[in-house]
Amino acid sequence: MAITVKRLHPLFAAEIGGVDLARPLDVAVFREIEDALDEHTILVFRDQRLDDGQQLAFSRRFGALEITTANVANDGKQSEVADISNVGADGKLLPTDSKAMKYRDANEMWHSDSSFKPVPAKASLLSAREVPPVEGDTEFCNMRAAYAALPADTQAGIENLVAIHSYTYSRGLVDPDLFTSEQAAQVPPVRQRLIRVNPKNGRKALYVGSHASHIEGMPVESSRRMLQELLANAVRPDFIYRHRWRQFDLVIWDNRAAVHRGCGWDKTRYRRVMRRTTVAGERSSLDEMMELN
Ligand code: OGA
Ligand code: MN
Repeated sequence: MAITVKRLHPLFAAEIGGVDLARPLDVAVFREIEDALDEHTILVFRDQRLDDGQQLAFSRRFGALEITTANVANDGKQSEVADISNVGADGKLLPTDSKAMKYRDANEMWHSDSSFKPVPAKASLLSAREVPPVEGDTEFCNMRAAYAALPADTQAGIENLVAIHSYTYSRGLVDPDLFTSEQAAQVPPVRQRLIRVNPKNGRKALYVGSHASHIEGMPVESSRRMLQELLANAVRPDFIYRHRWRQFDLVIWDNRAAVHRGCGWDKTRYRRVMRRTTVAGERSSLDEMMELN
């Protein structure tokens, strides 16, 4: 092993050492990182001073990258690098009541990145460029553990259920006018199974979160309550790893096996500047069989 692996939580999450991600990595070293992500779901790398180009180069090793949707927080400028910050183009703190800030505040609901896209994200890489002196943590919940903790009849009952995930639904929970009709038309609702399987190791995880609106073939209100209950039951304290950010941390998470949420900080006082790259997922043969998207 070229990398070092230190467990951060009894169930998942590991700090990886012995690598400088700003430089091109050997195939063998990269494979160890990829395997560690499949195993531990959350990987923390400290002291990685990455610029956007270096972050992009490392991220591309995992596969094709997603492009951000056009939205109120990016002035419609789509990019492979998502700006997750409370700082505007003028370098000043965004007003907390601005639409751009409300849009980003929606990250404080439990979610899996891009579950509203036809082929949802595999992994996300978040690089901390500037962190507030207090708060601003991110929580991750282990959805393999959440699935395993479900009673057998519930596991069987949700095995073939499909949820409708909608970006306008989840952002609408924060503010109904965050999207123009043109932007909304770019993100029509999609179908996702309630169970997501890692095709490499076959491990199953519960796949719910803020974008999941209701369940196909069931009444909207009652199935929405069912999704909310599944999520509320999943996010129990012993399944959660809470990341306290240091400047220059790079954290990678597997969106197939965890949900996450931002924990907030004093946005009227402190800058928090993060950059995210997102690795696109892949359609599985089961998705094809079930004619998902
Ligand atoms: C994200 C996200 C939460 C945070 O970047 O996808 O949800 O704490 N971030 O910034
Ligand atoms: Mn996110």
